[in-house]
Amino acid sequence: MTIPVIAIDGPSASGKGTIAEKVAEKLGFNVLDSGALYRLTALHAIRLGVRLTDEISVASLAATLPAEFRTGEVWLAGENVTRAIRTEDAGEAASKVAALPAVRKALLARQRAYAEAPGLVADGRDMGTVVFPEAQTKVFLTASPEARAERRYKQLIEKGNSANLAALVQDMRARDERDTQRAVAPLKPAPDALVLDSTQLNIDQVVEAVLKSYRTSQNLK
Ligand code: DC
Repeated sequence: MTIPVIAIDGPSASGKGTIAEKVAEKLGFNVLDSGALYRLTALHAIRLGVRLTDEISVASLAATLPAEFRTGEVWLAGENVTRAIRTEDAGEAASKVAALPAVRKALLARQRAYAEAPGLVADGRDMGTVVFPEAQTKVFLTASPEARAERRYKQLIEKGNSANLAALVQDMRARDERDTQRAVAPLKPAPDALVLDSTQLNIDQVVEAVLKSYRTSQNLK
């Protein structure tokens, strides 16, 4: 039996995480937040004093990442890192280790193991292109850098962090540049992905569009 997979890819702060959670909730599916694995790998390397450019060492940490996801919390080597992996610094560090081919390879099997019954919603950059190329439904979710920076700004402020909107727009552009220009698994829509620009859409409208695309793919089977 093939496990249904809905791949949701797109740039940072495009709302993928929220949309993936909501779509999974509606369908009773599992969720893979693949960005969290890159964030955890980077944080683990930093904590152990491993340089983020040391591809072999970072990849070996990724292969045996002592991470656990427990009802909304993320734990790394016995420490609750739910907040620590969400900082802009952790995102920046994640983007650096994500550009290393050996690191991406080391995380492949772990990501694919999430495809369990009754189905999976996978959120990331290369879900539809590399990790789950056979996914029935592929969505590439995007929004303007300004809209994404504003969403990230609100999230940071709500969580009690400080934030600077202009700096966030700049960071967003820099991270987009690195994620789209890297040699391995660059951020780009799969040829068969539905490209959704959410700049003018609310969360419910995007969730509905993803569910519609999934239902269409099910009817076509
Ligand atoms: O989605 P996020 O912001 O948590 O991802 C953090 C970084 O990890 C992002 O800069 C790009 C990278 N990433 C990736 O290269 N491939 C994925 N499937 C998910 C994230």
